[in-house]
Amino acid sequence: MKNILVVGATGQIGSELTMELRKRYGNNHVIAGYIQSSEPKGELLESGPSALADVTYSEMILDVVKKYKIDTIYNLAALLSVVAESKPQLAWHIGVDGLFNILEVARQYNCAVFTPSSIGSFGSTTPHVKTPQDTIQRPRTMYGVTKVTTELVSDYYYGRYGVDTRAVRFPGIISNVTAPGGGTTDYAVDIYYSAVKGQRFVCPLKEGTFMDMMYMPDAMNAAISLMEADPTRLIHRNAFNIASMSFAPETIYAEIKKNLPSFEMTYDIDPLKQLIADSWPDSLDDTCAQQEWDWKPQYNLESMTVDMIEKLKARDLK
Ligand code: SER
Repeated sequence: MKNILVVGATGQIGSELTMELRKRYGNNHVIAGYIQSSEPKGELLESGPSALADVTYSEMILDVVKKYKIDTIYNLAALLSVVAESKPQLAWHIGVDGLFNILEVARQYNCAVFTPSSIGSFGSTTPHVKTPQDTIQRPRTMYGVTKVTTELVSDYYYGRYGVDTRAVRFPGIISNVTAPGGGTTDYAVDIYYSAVKGQRFVCPLKEGTFMDMMYMPDAMNAAISLMEADPTRLIHRNAFNIASMSFAPETIYAEIKKNLPSFEMTYDIDPLKQLIADSWPDSLDDTCAQQEWDWKPQYNLESMTVDMIEKLKARDLK
């Protein structure tokens, strides 16, 4: 039986991934690791154990790993791209120093480690269409710099010490549970909230700005299936391109409008977000993930839109 620690369990991905892992492995086998300023609440708190696990304090990670006999760590602690530009040193401290803390504990206590990378690990010199698995990664954002570093350091710990590190490069993740904070792809979440509330959406990115996106159920499946994959099949480790849909603001707007015909969108470009989005790929080639661990998404833009609208309508948003 697995004993799993989710670091960053109250964040955008962690809040749902922790619940999904509890469903699959049993509530008591999945520890929700949180930081002081963001304690778990509601179902996340009540459904299983939680522990203070600030990635910037190695003793905290060590204590939780020992206490709960952890063998797998999902390390989701990070600042998203836009907020990382306003706090680059903190972004590095959490993303890279934090990862070192995790990997050192993992090395001593034989834990597998998942630390997601991102489409943000690419830069303007990367081929933008069907970006290959192995290609140029010269990001100019601190978010991207930390993500490329986590890929390299994770591979290093695998090669040097045999720590079972694996990861995917997440695209923009769309969900109706915990809102992202300070990412470049956040618009693709915010647009659904505006649409369902009957409000006009002001888009911060230009028409024609394509980026890869993914619905949360597929993102969670990707992380869990990769951690479950047969290691003898893995040629790559940190980190796999995964993909399910690529769209621009006008594409998602048109798709929502099919379901909510009175929905309106205007543009007011945020220069920092636009600069970051322009440096990221339009679409990723995920052939290696398909070949090495049978990656296959379930949702496309159409089915995700129907589900998002249905779930948000059921929540009676104010
Ligand atoms: N969602 C992230 C961001 O926009 C990208 O991985 O920062």
